[in-house]
Amino acid sequence: MQLLFLCMQHDKVLILDFGSQYTQLIARRVRELNIYSEIHPFNKPPKNVDDYKAVILSGSPMSVRSEDAFHPDLSEIRGKKPMLAVCYGAQYLAHFSGGEVAESNTREYGRANLSFVEEDAFFNGISIGSQVWMSHSDTIKSLPTNGKLLASTHDVQNAAFKIEGETTYAIQFHPEVYHSKDGKQLLENFLVNIANVNPDWTPNAFVQETVEDLQAKLGEDKVVLGLSGGVDSSVAAMLLHKAIGKNLYCIFVNNGLLRKNEFSDVLEQYKGMGLNVKGVDASARFLDALAGLSDPEKKRKAIGNAFIEVFDQEAHLIEDVKWLAQGTIYPDVIESVSATGGPSATIKSHHNVGGLPDYMKLKIVEPLRALFKDEVRRVGASMGMDKDLLGRHPFPGPGLAIRILGDITAEKVRILQEVDAVFINGLRDAGLYDKVWQAGAILLPVNSVGVMGDERTYEKCVALRAVESTDGMTADWVNLPYEFLQKTSNDIINKVKGVNRVVYDISSKPPATIEWE
Ligand code: XMP
Repeated sequence: MQLLFLCMQHDKVLILDFGSQYTQLIARRVRELNIYSEIHPFNKPPKNVDDYKAVILSGSPMSVRSEDAFHPDLSEIRGKKPMLAVCYGAQYLAHFSGGEVAESNTREYGRANLSFVEEDAFFNGISIGSQVWMSHSDTIKSLPTNGKLLASTHDVQNAAFKIEGETTYAIQFHPEVYHSKDGKQLLENFLVNIANVNPDWTPNAFVQETVEDLQAKLGEDKVVLGLSGGVDSSVAAMLLHKAIGKNLYCIFVNNGLLRKNEFSDVLEQYKGMGLNVKGVDASARFLDALAGLSDPEKKRKAIGNAFIEVFDQEAHLIEDVKWLAQGTIYPDVIESVSATGGPSATIKSHHNVGGLPDYMKLKIVEPLRALFKDEVRRVGASMGMDKDLLGRHPFPGPGLAIRILGDITAEKVRILQEVDAVFINGLRDAGLYDKVWQAGAILLPVNSVGVMGDERTYEKCVALRAVESTDGMTADWVNLPYEFLQKTSNDIINKVKGVNRVVYDISSKPPATIEWE
């Protein structure tokens, strides 16, 4: 996996992934300590292991007792670098180095409390009884050769141990999950105090180094970037703007499927930030491309193709452009290990921009490739970007087209934009916007009977959706206050012509998805 070399000036931590659902969390916790970390599949470790100051082994859904247990050769790492083995990692150390792992008799899931057997710098600042989070079905019956027990819990005797003569520590619990109350302290103890990793990877340092890196890489070249109005493309643009100024050419396409007034508002905001941005209103072209299409995937394709055509046309107007910049972030690039073995890409690819035709022959630059979403926001904040822009809810590339179920007309787009504006502005006014991860309205393909005054009506029904989530992969509906829902429903029906019924979506993902199409 190629990451920018901007992290070379900082100590780096290598996380070897054995397929745990929590591996990304380990990387995030480590980065919260201002330490740069990278995830690599255990069976595809980076070639330059020496560049890493410490190594963490992740958990896994696999059992070390299984015939096809993951059993990598760690001879280049073990005993040579500080190593922290978590859950499967700890069992791996025990099982393959003279200890014993067996199926557990008691359930070892959920909270447990630590009691210390041995004093060690590993537990500095952590009190007896500290809550940790267990999630395993095997248990370590006896420690590996030279293993020294450090801590136990009520049900798990070998909850933490180290290997004498090495800087190798192992823990059965998960310090990366929030339920392990002192997990961050423990990671800090290991990384900073024991492994001597320097915690100097801050958003400011990231900005400074990325700007220098981009300047060295791009020189006087021209770069084109498609702005979407979202956080990632905006922060990527700001970094590039800092690095190469007017040589960054931003294109913001109005596909006619954005939120009400979004195109003009956000375009003004971009200009206010000093960006060299061209707004291209291609609404009519997108509506034409969508005419008569009801199938969600066909709609997505039509929008994707229309975007490429418009973007390509605009990019060709910039003379001698060499690079295409994209707002790709770390979760788009991480490869994880699947439970059945073999690394597999678990996260869907970046779909807002991308898939540009080969003949454009542009080189790709992705300044956020190493960052998680919350880090992108922090980097944006450290560059003084507007809080509202950084806190914007995610919005799908195909926009309202996948929130209008069935075929799309200009009138349906107008109705949904109005409804969405009442809902989103209402969330802002009620101070709820930042408590929700993503929200929007959906125009349903049904009319229903209503009464307004003395008249019977037969008009559109809309659904409102508000979810909490961390990454969009799983989500739950938000318990919005009844009074808020009541007021929003009234406002929508009173203000938006053509709508006489409002419903609220109370489905979680899975089994539902966030979008309805
Ligand atoms: P789902 O509906 O899959 O959505 O639960 C998860 C997240 O992805 C967004 N989404 C899209 N984003 N193009 C995008 O750029 C798409 O086609 C697309 N479909 C879903 C969705 O808004 C949510 O944040």
